[in-house]
Amino acid sequence: MESVVKTIPSVLILLGPPGAGKGTQARMLEEEFGLVQLSTGDLLRAAVAAGTETGQKAKAVMDAGDLVSDDIVIAILRDRLGEPDCARGVILDGFPRTTVQAEALDDLLAETGQKINAAVSLEVDDAAMVARISGRYTCAGCGEGYHDRFKQPQRTGMCDKCGGADFKRRADDNAETVAQRLQAYHAQTAPLITYYDSKDVLQRIDAMGDIAAIATDLTAMVEKSMT
Ligand code: AP5
Repeated sequence: MESVVKTIPSVLILLGPPGAGKGTQARMLEEEFGLVQLSTGDLLRAAVAAGTETGQKAKAVMDAGDLVSDDIVIAILRDRLGEPDCARGVILDGFPRTTVQAEALDDLLAETGQKINAAVSLEVDDAAMVARISGRYTCAGCGEGYHDRFKQPQRTGMCDKCGGADFKRRADDNAETVAQRLQAYHAQTAPLITYYDSKDVLQRIDAMGDIAAIATDLTAMVEKSMT
């Protein structure tokens, strides 16, 4: 694997099934700590929208709720980590998702003498995740996330963050695909909880409460991991 060009001061990983709140909490941590949220899901969706070769390969896999191949995901993550803004520190949202990806991240960080501050497992019930995902939508302008029941904009039809009025829903947020995404999580990603526990960086958080309460717990946990 080629090296990234610089040192990244803080590396936080958010683990959890679809709908656990990784993206919601990552955006809050980004603002609170000045870190950069890196979502491999967002990077892949951008590649699909741009019609790149990577996007064309990933689209059918994502629509089916399966995991995109390790080679593709590791390559886009490595490229993104090499961009200048990542020098502020990163929150990895949705990466790694397999043991191969976790080992690739270890190799990448070892090259620059860095380590993972914390891998936080957002612990939730599968049943609640279907409700969270099926009500999700985002601002088409700035990407701020909302939910039909759990997080509505303060003014109906207007994004709280950028004032935009255009919202979108994800192609893979349907009941059938969500079931497959949950299955992929349990089969391929949940083993990373043991992986990071064995490296003494695992933190667990109850992510069944409301968004603000989870953010408070997570902020305290992250603060501690960065000292
Ligand atoms: P990705 O985009 O990463 O999706 P995901 O992991 O399925 O996670 P989600 O974005 O669905 O959920 P989230 O945990 O971020 O929840 P959110 O905060 O939005 O991946 C999509 C696809 O890309 C994968 O299926 C795969 O094909 C591919 N891919 C991506 N990375 C890959 C990788 N590393 N390797 C291989 N393939 C990869 O919250 C959900 C909703 O609930 C929101 O509406 C929110 O407002 C609401 N909400 C959040 N928290 C709460 C709460 N506490 N209470 C009530 N509502 C809440």
